[in-house]
Amino acid sequence: MDQKTDDRTLSPGLEGVLAGETAIAKVDGLNGKLTYRGYPIGDLVRHGTYAQVADLLWTGEWAPSADLPCAPLTDGVIKSLRALPPGTNAMDALRGAVSAWGAAERPTWPPTPEQARALTAIAPSSLAAFVRIQRGDEPIDPDPSLPLSAGFLYQLNGKRPDAASARALDAYFIVAAEHGFNASTFTARVITSTQSDLASALCGAIGALKGPLHGGAPSEVVSQLHEIGSPERAEKWINDALDRGDRLMGFGHRVYRAYDPRAAALREVAEGMAGTAEWLKLAVAVEDVALRVLKERHPERPLQTNVEFYTAAVLQGVGLPPAIFPATFALARHAGWTAHCIEQGQANRLIRPDVRYVGPAERALPA
Ligand code: CMC
Repeated sequence: MDQKTDDRTLSPGLEGVLAGETAIAKVDGLNGKLTYRGYPIGDLVRHGTYAQVADLLWTGEWAPSADLPCAPLTDGVIKSLRALPPGTNAMDALRGAVSAWGAAERPTWPPTPEQARALTAIAPSSLAAFVRIQRGDEPIDPDPSLPLSAGFLYQLNGKRPDAASARALDAYFIVAAEHGFNASTFTARVITSTQSDLASALCGAIGALKGPLHGGAPSEVVSQLHEIGSPERAEKWINDALDRGDRLMGFGHRVYRAYDPRAAALREVAEGMAGTAEWLKLAVAVEDVALRVLKERHPERPLQTNVEFYTAAVLQGVGLPPAIFPATFALARHAGWTAHCIEQGQANRLIRPDVRYVGPAERALPA
């Protein structure tokens, strides 16, 4: 078919294209609702743990006794982290650790819940070891009595987190665990659809999540709030940024047209955290002004707050450095990515869309 006779609808960015079916999560962008296996995200955050949620995503069943501690790293993974140059991006380090794990473990296709659990459990140990090595400290072995998110903080800081921080980070991990056919999950499914292994799929997913339009936003939210500095400066700063054609980080979403339910759940968590009071006051004030200004400028497409805005408040509140915000997002998203790879493997069809050719017509090579 050439361009003139091809009347198929072109959808740049695959926007609005139904590219598969899933039983894992429902993202209802119009009504601002998100459910995992039918359970609303707000209920999961209030009553569940990340271990229970990860297990739910992998198996489809709610197992109250599910647990998921961090796993120790093999020598190969630690060596790969030690070999990285100073100043390495944390996402590159995590991608490398997952690759080193895959090289040693050689997970077979199709992916299984056991592989998903193993990979999800080494990811936080890898990121914590990377951060410690980069600052000249030795990695710490995981404490098997701690859940994954608290175990991550323990391996990072060398001390057990207080209960409020542990709970807040676990809530963030639940909220960030899964989100339908976003770019990184779709990437993981494309790779799985070729019958490639789970580690390869996750390397691709981490690469996709690294981009600022996907997982890179929360650290930019922090810079944005630092630059604004105080609620009184918000209106001018926001108008200047929009006049320059800049985007406000933490606002807008491809799917949500209503308030992102993950932002609402995290705002609740942030409000309950000690030590976030000043920061949260600024965030709430900036959010109010930003929503008003965005609506005044474009009443026909009012943009809403997205999950990254309050992610910044929670991650900052538990003491994580902004440089590892995207990689922390990746740790949490391991549950969703791997669940999608398992689902893809269960009813596989190679993902291979078509593209419309718009280059030169057939022609002879210059003599
Ligand atoms: N600030 C200002 N204007 C915006 C923003 C924003 N944050 N987001 C979208 N717009 C404008 C955009 O310029 C465009 O305007 P126009 O039609 O005049 O050219 C219009 O809104 C539609 O934007 P779009 O780029 O077609 O929308 P999209 O669906 O491709 O973008 C997005 C979604 C998340 C990439 C975008 O909203 C954005 O860049 N937001 C800022 C970065 C951010 O917060 N990212 C985290 C996303 S949530 C994480 C996740 O769920 O993975």
